[in-house]
Amino acid sequence: MQKSIRVLRVGQRYVRDDRTLTHLCLVSRALGAESIYLEDAEKDVVGTLEEVNRTWGGDFKAVLGSPWRRVIQEAKKEGRKVVHLTMYGLPIQEVVEDLRKENRLLIVVGGPKVPGKVYHEADYNVAVTPQPHSEIAALAIVLHEIQNGEELKRTFQKSRLRILPSARGKRVVEN
Ligand SMILES: C[S@@+](CC[C@H](N)C(=O)[O-])C[C@H]1O[C@@H](n2cnc3c(N)ncnc32)[C@H](O)[C@@H]1O
Repeated sequence: MQKSIRVLRVGQRYVRDDRTLTHLCLVSRALGAESIYLEDAEKDVVGTLEEVNRTWGGDFKAVLGSPWRRVIQEAKKEGRKVVHLTMYGLPIQEVVEDLRKENRLLIVVGGPKVPGKVYHEADYNVAVTPQPHSEIAALAIVLHEIQNGEELKRTFQKSRLRILPSARGKRVVEN
């Protein structure tokens, strides 16, 4: 059974970083999440994603402007486990077996500043190594670990283009 995984990005930005937000969206979409909540992003990010869906399929959604606390409360109400990614959390390798048993998840990643309450409201605080790195990398690894690699085999419905994998060059066909 395919899991229902949503992503939440918490934290106000100091400078415009739509490239990071776009990459968070693309990684979430490609690696099996169904939507992402962005507290603080430009509408361009949504436009980019709609174009990616039209070309490459699926119906991944970016939801802008929802306060993090409401997203977490609603996720809990509908029985999702809330997994906050932070270098201070428990190592992913120690909790991944429990996370694989869950079918509905909200994965929370931070920006420059994560409110302390997020650590308390999460069901799990999870580290991908206890070293500082990137929310995009941490998210990709956790999505991969939780789905045990199944997300790599997924196909996206109603795409305009489709890639024919090849050892060299680019082969793309129209559907
Ligand atoms: C610029 S980093 C801030 C690093 C922060 N001190 C922390 O708590 O992980 C932004 C986000 O990347 C993610 N992140 C960075 N390093 C991580 C790690 N080792 N494990 C899990 N998530 C990480 C977290 O979601 C964090 O909020």
